[in-house]
Amino acid sequence: MSENSRSSMHGQWSSRWVFVLAATGSAVGLGNIWKFPYIAGENGGGAFVLVYLLCIAVIGLPVMIAEVMVGRRGRQSPVNTMKVLSKEEGRSRLWPLLGWSGVLAGFLILSYYSVIAGWALNYVIEMASGTFNSSSAGEVKTVFEDLLSDPLKLTIWHTLFIVATMVVVARGVRGGLEKAVMLLMPALFVLLIILLGYAMNSGAFMQGLAFLFTPDFSALTGKGVLIAMGHAFFTLSLGMGAIMVYGSYMRKEDSIARTSIMIVIADTVVALIAGMAIFPIVFANGLEPGAGPGLVFQTLPLAFGQMTGGLFFGTLFFILLLFAAWSSSISLIEPAVTWLVENRNMKRRTASIVCGVATWALGMGTVLSFNLWAEVKLFDMTFFELLDFLTANIMLPLSGLFIALFAGWAMSRESKLHEMATRHLFAFNGWNFLLKYVTPLAVTVVFLQSIGLLEQLIEKLS
Ligand code: PHE
Repeated sequence: MSENSRSSMHGQWSSRWVFVLAATGSAVGLGNIWKFPYIAGENGGGAFVLVYLLCIAVIGLPVMIAEVMVGRRGRQSPVNTMKVLSKEEGRSRLWPLLGWSGVLAGFLILSYYSVIAGWALNYVIEMASGTFNSSSAGEVKTVFEDLLSDPLKLTIWHTLFIVATMVVVARGVRGGLEKAVMLLMPALFVLLIILLGYAMNSGAFMQGLAFLFTPDFSALTGKGVLIAMGHAFFTLSLGMGAIMVYGSYMRKEDSIARTSIMIVIADTVVALIAGMAIFPIVFANGLEPGAGPGLVFQTLPLAFGQMTGGLFFGTLFFILLLFAAWSSSISLIEPAVTWLVENRNMKRRTASIVCGVATWALGMGTVLSFNLWAEVKLFDMTFFELLDFLTANIMLPLSGLFIALFAGWAMSRESKLHEMATRHLFAFNGWNFLLKYVTPLAVTVVFLQSIGLLEQLIEKLS
């Protein structure tokens, strides 16, 4: 089949905007609002944020464009896309492994992502029932700690969230994915702006900004740099085939570069606004920026508990956060589901159930890691911490590196030019250069320095 006539058996987005919305829905999620603030807090703020932004520009954007391009050219699940394209380009038959590592990463990430989304679900109920009305920082913290220490509650929320995800996935691209994101993303954005307004008047706005945007490199460790890079992949949904599979539903006539830039900007702006809303509240209330995964859940309820209309806005906020997580989780499991449909001849519904049950079961490990298994550690990390570290900081960057190598080196210039269908040769060459040299080098350097290898090498050479 020539690449011109290839079409996806799973359907196609009905317009360019739907692709942008769906991919933004995938990118914007817990990563932006829950994870970014707390890892920035744990890693000292400004310098970490700077490295993260650099990684977004130098690594994230080129890889995003590459993933969409590869996906649209292959028009199948990431595994089969890699199979078809590597054959077409006359390359090694090992490339499909890249699709597999994505399937695995998505599955692992969803297992804990769902547990955290479950927290948001719990907070919708707490907010709506007025738990946080004029609460003190201590009271808000207790509510969070009580939640984590209750495996049954966590399990119920985790189960509900997995079921909700699988229901949408089972209905497929046109029926499910499209509709879920149209309205909710803009609404979330508006709520974040309201929170930002509150933070501006919290009395510590400048302190919050200074923490986020004044780089203090003495606060940044080698591991912090790795986490910043890993987060660039995580937050943009790169390195696991989510964007690739969404790209495979993209219409031929839409511009890959332009849409990718929009998605990257939207995702980054949301994360930065979330940070700017949260840290002033942290400082105004004498809270700890390095509080860890509970940071958002211990700061925002405090703000909502104090503002007029807080009950309404707070409930709405957590509902929207939940939807943002929902539209991300769908894309986490889509590569696995499409593969089962293509290769195991399963119905979409069956494939969704199979994936749902498996992720649910693995997710129980994360549920327990916050209570009964809190002391069970490997490499000094709990089950949740280990999964998070392994996926976000190792698997995604590593796969992302190989995607860059595939698009940069293994694909011919003709195929790329054909798929990108661009008249802007200068921009095309710039992107190609980044993919071939800069991205792989940057990822490798971050990996090496984080394990201290680079330092040893430099020492040896000097
Ligand atoms: N980008 C999502 C977020 O920031 C998480 C995600 C990672 C989704 C990888 C899909 C693939 O929350």
